[in-house]
This record gives sequence, structure tokens and C-alpha cells, in this order.
Amino acid sequence: METIGHLCDFLEKSRTHYHAAAQVAGWLQAAGYVRLEEGRSWDLVPGGRYYIQRHASALAAFRIPASAPTGAMIAAAHCDRPGFLVKENGLLEGKYLRLATERYGGLLMYSWLDRPLSIAGRVLVKTRQGVESRLVDLDQDLALIPSVAIHMDRTVNDGKKFDPAVDTLPLIGLPGGEKLEALLQEAAGGEIAGRDLYLYLREKPRVWGLNGEFLSAQGLDDLECVWACAQGFLNAGDSAAMPVLCVFDSEEVGSCSSQGADGTLLSGLLSRICRCLGVEEEVLLSNSFMVSADNAHALHPNHPELADPTNAPVLNGGVVIKTNANLSYTTTGLSAALFRQVCEEAQVPVQTYYNRANIPGGSTLGRISLGHVSVPSVDIGLAQLAMHAGYETAGAKDPQHLAQAMAAYYAKSLHITGDRYELV
Ligand code: CO
Repeated sequence: METIGHLCDFLEKSRTHYHAAAQVAGWLQAAGYVRLEEGRSWDLVPGGRYYIQRHASALAAFRIPASAPTGAMIAAAHCDRPGFLVKENGLLEGKYLRLATERYGGLLMYSWLDRPLSIAGRVLVKTRQGVESRLVDLDQDLALIPSVAIHMDRTVNDGKKFDPAVDTLPLIGLPGGEKLEALLQEAAGGEIAGRDLYLYLREKPRVWGLNGEFLSAQGLDDLECVWACAQGFLNAGDSAAMPVLCVFDSEEVGSCSSQGADGTLLSGLLSRICRCLGVEEEVLLSNSFMVSADNAHALHPNHPELADPTNAPVLNGGVVIKTNANLSYTTTGLSAALFRQVCEEAQVPVQTYYNRANIPGGSTLGRISLGHVSVPSVDIGLAQLAMHAGYETAGAKDPQHLAQAMAAYYAKSLHITGDRYELV
């Protein structure tokens, strides 16, 4: 399948972070990766391909080289995105039926208004022994958050403050039509004991622009990077180091969960692999590297004044290396130099991002992950507009840039001796 078509298909099917992770797991299985249970003993063999998945969202995949790994080449991205959680007892009754929702992460609320929405996520279905996690997608035009007419709020274009307990509750029906639970049970194929359900936009991913320059979809932050890291991981040639792919959940709410970068998923995995293979963990970590891949702000067409004057990435300009003086990003001169070398060899253009000095900017999972696994790390991403809008925009050529760079990265190993850092 052509690159952009494959990516658009992934984006469209990624109704929620659970659906995104399930697709990555599907690619891994198709490529011969064996799912390991964290609750059983492992028998890892040279050349073996494995992955673990936690609670239907986060996953980590790795390949054991032909001989003992010299280090680990890690890349991590996140599958979650800001949006709305649908609460239990989710129907508010009155003259209309509305859905009770709560914000997840820092979203641009207005971008969710006046568009058809649906509900998807993960439910826990009762079984004879316990419960089973199943993905659900109601997959129909089901709800919409109507804005207030201009005639009722003449000042709306001067800046509107949204109250999430009032303004963004979606309309889902009229009284007497309370069949939401029945729809969910049918989709789940059983009695629901627990739920993690979210709204999603019905708008499909689109490639657009005079020459098809742009790509818009929901969840580009950070599913573009999930896709590109996974493609690079799957397509990379052999290395003396161990390639590791991490897809974390919970990034948009601070990463503190057993599925997030502030949990033990990665650190526990690396320790365990070392124990299984009889490799000294300190030696392995000392020759390891991490790429924290999360999208970057592109220069805004209407607001260039918000960007740094000399480090403002543009759409389709290539992979972005993000640096922050206060280490909101993990990049240092060292890690930037090493990653630049990878991109150069892969013939992928590189751009740089710094916050404008008077705008604080965001942070990401790299910084949090380094608290658990302390290796040289670079923060990178693809340039995008409208970060955290329901429907985001990026360059249509950049995903391939990153996939190519990651394939080159995963074929490398890092060897550190004194002040010398060799990528071979
Ligand atoms: Co992100």
C-alpha cells in the first residue's frame, strides 16, 4: 500500500488510543512478533521478535540480535490524544437527550463543535471468570455539540470562554430514545461491567491543498509518530543493538499510569530482558539511546509572530529536532548531533524547533521516561498546525521522512568510550 494511504487508513481506524494500539499490535503479529505475557516466565532466543501490551493500550516491541545486544536503540511515541471521555450514566435527560462528558487532556474545545461525533473505546465484558477487555466502536453519526447562534451571543467572535459542564455537552437524541446502553451492549457482545469510552469526530483523514501538500486528521499528535516509528522499527535492517519500540498511553495527562511513560513499562522491560539474556544492565544502558517522538508546532501561516525567528519548522520540511533550555525536551547538543547523523545517512531533511523565548511551550514523554531509563535522548517530531484541535493538520510528505529516518536509526548501535560517541 502507498505510504500516505496506509497512514490514512491507520488514522481513520484509530478511533481511540485503544484502537491505535490494537493496529500496531496487528502489524507486529503479521511480522512474526510473539506477544509475551508479563505474568509468565520468558524464554528469549537470539533473533527472537517479541512484544508486550498493557491493559489494551501501551505496548513495547523488541528484537533480540543474533548475539548479545550491545545496547538498546529505543523510540517512544504516544497513542492517546486530547478529547472527551463519556461518563457512566452518560445520558442527561430534559427536553433533549445529551451526553455527559469530561475533558481528557488539554484540548481546543471549539474545534469539536458542529461536527458529527460518535463513541468508541474499550469496555470490560462480564464472563464466567472475571471480565474481558473488548474494543467497541458505535461507528455511526450519533452526536453533535451545537454552537450558540451569533444572534444569541454577539460577542462570540471576540473570544468565547467554554464551560465543559455546559457548552460542550453533545446532543444525542430526543427523550424516549434512550437506547445508548443497548447499542453499547450490542457492540460489546455482552454485559458491560466497566468502560473507557470517548467521543471521536466522524471526519475522515484527508490529503488536501493545491498539490496535495497537507494531511488533516484527528490524533495526528501523536499517531503520525506512532505510525512512522512503528514502520521504521518493522523495516529496519539488523543491528548489534536491540531495537525497542514503545507506544505509551496517558501522555496528554502527565504520563503517570501503568500504561504511561512514568510507569515501569520500559524500565521493567529492559531489566527483564537483561536478566533473561544474562547481559549486564548497566553495560547495556550505557550504550543505549532514546528517541522521544512527539509532534512539533509548525510556523503558523497567520501567526508567524508566535514562532522563534530562526527555529520555526515548516510543513514538509522534514524531521524536527526540539530543544528547550529547561529540558522540557530531552535534546542536548550531543543527542542532536547523533540523531542528525542518522537523518543525514537516511537522506532525510532536518529542522529545528525552540520555543520563542517569551512563550513557555509544552513538554512530552521523553523527559518523564528519562527518570526511569537514563540514556542520551533526543526529542523529535513532525511539524503540525492546530495541535490539540479535534482535527489537526500536518505536511503530507513528512510522515515518510520520519519513517525513513527511524528505519536508519533502528539499524544502528551506539558505542560510548570516554568522550567519543560512535553510531555504527
Ligand atoms: Co503529543
